[in-house]
Amino acid sequence: MCNLSGQNNFFGRRCVWVNGPVIVGAGPSGLAVSACLREQDVPFVVIERSDCIASLWQKHTYNRLKLHLPKKFCQLPRLPFPEEYPEYPTKKQFIAYLENYAQKFDIKPHFNECVQSAKYDEACQLWRVVTVSTTESTRSETEYICQMLVVATGENAEGVVPEIDGLQDFSGEVVHAKDYKSGENYTGKKVLVVGCGNSGMELSLDLSNHNAKPSIVVRSSVIFKLTPSKRSNLFSRKRIPIKTKHLINLFSLQVHILPREIMGKSTFDLAMILMKWLPLWLVDKLLLILTWFILGNTHKYGIKRPSIGPLELKNRHGKTPVLDIGALQKIRSGDITVVPGVKRFKRNSVELVDGETVDIDSVVLATGYRSNVPYWLQESEFFAKNGFPKTPFPSGWKGKNGLYASGFTRRGLAGVSADAIKISQDIAQVWKQDLNNKNRRLLRRCISTF
Ligand SMILES: Cc1cc2nc3c(=O)[nH]c(=O)nc-3n(C[C@H](O)[C@H](O)[C@H](O)COP(=O)(O)OP(=O)(O)OC[C@H]3O[C@@H](n4cnc5c(N)ncnc54)[C@H](O)[C@@H]3O)c2cc1C
Ligand SMILES: NC(=O)c1ccc[n+]([C@@H]2O[C@H](COP(=O)([O-])OP(=O)(O)OC[C@H]3O[C@@H](n4cnc5c(N)ncnc54)[C@H](OP(=O)(O)O)[C@@H]3O)[C@@H](O)[C@H]2O)c1
Repeated sequence: MCNLSGQNNFFGRRCVWVNGPVIVGAGPSGLAVSACLREQDVPFVVIERSDCIASLWQKHTYNRLKLHLPKKFCQLPRLPFPEEYPEYPTKKQFIAYLENYAQKFDIKPHFNECVQSAKYDEACQLWRVVTVSTTESTRSETEYICQMLVVATGENAEGVVPEIDGLQDFSGEVVHAKDYKSGENYTGKKVLVVGCGNSGMELSLDLSNHNAKPSIVVRSSVIFKLTPSKRSNLFSRKRIPIKTKHLINLFSLQVHILPREIMGKSTFDLAMILMKWLPLWLVDKLLLILTWFILGNTHKYGIKRPSIGPLELKNRHGKTPVLDIGALQKIRSGDITVVPGVKRFKRNSVELVDGETVDIDSVVLATGYRSNVPYWLQESEFFAKNGFPKTPFPSGWKGKNGLYASGFTRRGLAGVSADAIKISQDIAQVWKQDLNNKNRRLLRRCISTF
């Protein structure tokens, strides 16, 4: 890297020429690409807006989080998890693994620099990446100039906060799942958890374990009514199990809930094995039959399965199935209440789409995440408006003019590793070719001088 500081450009920016690619983001994706490049002796610069690596894991996840897939699917290239790690490492263990990974491959990101814009300059055939310091009180900008750009800012860069009528007037605490740490501050409180993905389900479980009274919102639900005697129990301290007979109409929660393990084997692992031999639709059918034996008929708790199977739904729409680690049992026992979509919030309560009003103390928005690529990358050929590559898996890792995307295949950490290997091999090839050409030119110039 050649630091051109002191050679501030017209706008008073520090300019830095980077030999090799600029990698934006020091999460698992950025680290994995860096490690693979380091092994091939390709120089690089990593830019990270936060003050640490893997900021999503270190700063924006809840305490009880564990990897929900077995460790063999979550390790990054070139470094397995320590043997003593359990099958599902805890968040702390995963962070320790990543810290060690960064150290082993000598990855030193430029921390506290947020990429504001990145644009390919056709005239110079180079990428111009502008960052703003996130620590200094005065705005200081740096422009990195490079031949290749790796986008590794993640599928979960920003929390999605939906616009819901009256939310700003609600008097209680409202937090997004990314800022939720533990249910210990919610003991005794009536908490509305909006969203029923993996986050919503697990946060409801955590709240219930801390003796809060969670209700989980399922927005695609139809009408759900408890018989009056049961309805009054919704938020009472003593929970009485809700049985089918107490439900007048059922929700149609459009999500697949699968057990995390089937007969002691990870459901994901089992699906991967079956997919080697069987077509996807058949694997889906088998998974659902096995799930039925383990979880029973979830329909009677208001959980209706989508018409397409869990793997097909993931493939077609990127919707991750919920891997149940106990929330379903709490729904069965009535410790977690399922409620339909929100119509509007009031000062101390929420009005649901079925017309019922429920008193609540706090709200947790487990409403998902989004990519932030459209806010800074000035390019529209490779990336779509939703911040994901337009070309579907397995081709969405490489664009034009030295542009790469790592970690956008909706395949979790396994996808991150696969991308990193392909990207680093491609970059190494281009970079070495370039180096050879430069050396040849230099040699020719030397020969002609003598
Ligand atoms: C609660 C939760 C649990 C999860 N559990 C699992 C799991 O068990 N297994 C699994 O496979 N996946 C899981 N995931 C998915 C998760 O996204 C991936 O595991 C992994 O974090 C993806 O790594 P990444 O580097 O692509 O993105 P991230 O981890 O999000 O890292 C992106 C980095 O880019 C930085 N960044 C963003 N924008 C900018 C910018 N403009 N300038 C500079 N830096 C920027 C961010 O600060 C961040 O450090 C989970 C996600 C969440 C939210
Ligand atoms: N390791 C783990 O155990 C673990 C834990 C948590 C998360 N994760 C991973 O992290 C990623 C993100 O998961 P996530 O659960 O945070 O997000 P998610 O899967 O995107 O789920 C968001 C949920 O919020 C709902 N929603 C959005 N807007 C809403 C609104 N206005 N009203 C009501 N509901 C609304 C969505 O409903 P619709 O479906 O109708 O849009 C969906 O159910 C996933 O890859 C997941 O697997 C892993």
